[in-house]
Amino acid sequence: MSRADVAVGPDHEPPTRADRAAALHRSGRHFLQIPGPTNVPDRVLRAIDAPTIDHRGPQFARLGLDLLEAIKGVFQTEGPVVIYPSSGTGAWEAALVNTVSPGDRVLAFETGHFSILWRAMAERLGLEVEWVPGDWRHGVDPDTVQRILAADAGHAIRAVTVVHNETSTGVTSRIPAIRAAIDAAAHPALLLVDTISSLASIDYRHDEWGVDVTVGCSQKGLMLPPGLGFNAISEKALAASASARLPRSYWEWQPIIEANRAGFWPYTPPTNLLYGLREAVAMLMEEGLPAVFARHERHAEATRRAVRAWGLEVVCADEREHSGSLTAILMPAGHDADEVRRVVLERFDMSLGTGLGKLRGRVFRIGHLGHFNDLMLAGTLCGVELGLALAGVPISRGGIDAALEHLGGTA
Ligand SMILES: Cc1ncc(COP(=O)(O)O)c(C=O)c1O
Repeated sequence: MSRADVAVGPDHEPPTRADRAAALHRSGRHFLQIPGPTNVPDRVLRAIDAPTIDHRGPQFARLGLDLLEAIKGVFQTEGPVVIYPSSGTGAWEAALVNTVSPGDRVLAFETGHFSILWRAMAERLGLEVEWVPGDWRHGVDPDTVQRILAADAGHAIRAVTVVHNETSTGVTSRIPAIRAAIDAAAHPALLLVDTISSLASIDYRHDEWGVDVTVGCSQKGLMLPPGLGFNAISEKALAASASARLPRSYWEWQPIIEANRAGFWPYTPPTNLLYGLREAVAMLMEEGLPAVFARHERHAEATRRAVRAWGLEVVCADEREHSGSLTAILMPAGHDADEVRRVVLERFDMSLGTGLGKLRGRVFRIGHLGHFNDLMLAGTLCGVELGLALAGVPISRGGIDAALEHLGGTA
């Protein structure tokens, strides 16, 4: 359908809403409120929009060296951070293939859809996964970690994998308590943590919290397009990589770290995404990480207040584990979350996150992470409240007021 068709409708009738939704151009800004990819700031877009340079030349080396140093601040580490041209899934694989060997045992927890995907990957790679089932409403229980590791007297478990922020549920596991549980069991297993939807949004400290490999990616709190994956690596993990025997080539840390010493990569790096990363890290540091985390926490709290005022329930069932970067909302019985998402997209040009895995149709997710502010949140919640009402979901109006009251009362 051409723009002209949309303007007058197919039979010279006024365009219907569906026609308008299908139009190539919709006026105003699309609201991208899925929990990643997130809104890319204009500053980052402008940084990416620059000539691609010789990736083996001196100008690139300066970019590489600056960036590889600056990115450490985001992970709160002094150690190496490997940057891959990849999605988050690639960075998951890198964390595993560099640290463990065929047949090794890995302890993993069912916190939601992404923990299941990471487990499936580990099994496909030939690892033995000790799987702790969960209800998708709680994070990893530190006591369970301690109990299982304490019982593993022979230290057969080589790694513990945790999804810090389960993007499918909006539940954040407590990494310092998990670290303490591993230490209390005096167990040498490596701690591998997925921070794909928490990095640069929810407080996270690779070194201080004793994490061995932190997995991240570009399209969420880092405010970039998809395309970069990260591994922050502890000394212990680096040492483990020397004897780890899973097959690896592209993902192998050592040649990348070696090339990175001079600011280069062993292959052609994604130059323009790296320009964007340099800008995004500068923006995060200008705001200051504590302020970035507090902003996310405040928006998350305002969102939960709106949900409660609507008379709806969030998925997260533990006050200590609410996510700062997204909120997953349960639908009342008999109502389809994807229908609400459809109405919101069609009427208000806003994308909300779908329910994943077993939560499909039962949950929709509001992403409030990355490049985001009070008025963007207010607009988002307006779209959700109106969309719920238009989709016939029985809610109390007043969610927006509850959220605004919180925003107005806190800085
Ligand atoms: C927590 C978590 N882990 C892993 C992934 C997979 O990342 P990607 O889709 O970039 O491969 C995602 C994607 O949303 C995620 O949210």
